Amino acid sequence: MSLLSVSRRVLRYRIARTLIIIFTIWNLAEIHLIHHRISKADYTVLLRRPQKQERIYIASINWNNELVLRSHWSKALTQLILKLGPENVFISIYESGSYDNTKGALRELDWELERMRVPRNITLSPVTHEDELAAPARGEGWIRTADGKKHLRRIPYLARIRNLSLRPLQDLARQGITFDKILFLNDVVFTSNDVLRLLDTNDGEYGAACSLDFSKPPSFYDTFALRDNEGHEPIMQTWPYFSSAASRHGMKNMSPIPVASCWNGMGMLTSILESVA
Ligand SMILES: *[C@@H]1O[C@H](CO)[C@@H](O)[C@H](O)[C@H]1NC(C)=O
Ligand SMILES: *[C@@H]1O[C@H](CO)[C@@H](O)[C@H](O)[C@H]1NC(C)=O
Repeated sequence: MSLLSVSRRVLRYRIARTLIIIFTIWNLAEIHLIHHRISKADYTVLLRRPQKQERIYIASINWNNELVLRSHWSKALTQLILKLGPENVFISIYESGSYDNTKGALRELDWELERMRVPRNITLSPVTHEDELAAPARGEGWIRTADGKKHLRRIPYLARIRNLSLRPLQDLARQGITFDKILFLNDVVFTSNDVLRLLDTNDGEYGAACSLDFSKPPSFYDTFALRDNEGHEPIMQTWPYFSSAASRHGMKNMSPIPVASCWNGMGMLTSILESVA
């Protein structure tokens, strides 16, 4: 082995090591920057009324969420209604089978909405969760596990309940009462400004726009329906989140992230309105 080849090897090793160090520092800086932007995001919200007055159908399905209703949700909803104008919204809430006092919390919300003269349909179903489980197991809504027990499948169940929350929309459409957008609200902590910002996504031009649900920022939560713009599931619950460069780019710049599908806490939809009309 010549002296020359040894020193070349040393040189190659040093270059590789330097590149790895630069790459690592670059990535750490990027992660830090993005986490910083996420933590700051709440404080940069503009406080203002929506740009154009739109009519919004607000739908929510509720199960065992008395705590968040009482601590945040009901208050945030009434504040949102005040900003949008009670005459521009319809509230559709469907609750079924809660073990806690979700019904009580929703009755109190109902009284408050009555006082504010907000058009609404709050249905508190007497069907218990046991009734649902005792119903004859038919079709794709059920699954039988190896031990021979039958279980209610979550997604077909939620799809059915969500359809019920949209029924008043169809009734209203028949009376000629229509809406520009549908907002689905999960049992999440939100502010009226979060909703106004979501509404303004891409100047209001979209089929669907969703929030990201950060349970413990910078980790996001509830990625069940989320697919990046290339149709892939999120790769991690923190940065870089998405495998698609376009989706990552949006996240990095705190601008709307193009996705193929989403739900995540709040969803603002325009596309399904055509199927209702
Ligand atoms: C929900 O409603 C849509 C439109 O009416 C229908 O196509 C779909 O089958 C319904 N889904 C469930 C689970 O009931
Ligand atoms: C609420 O909506 C349900 C489902 O469409 C309907 O059966 C019920 O009559 C409505 N209640 C009121 C008070 O309009």
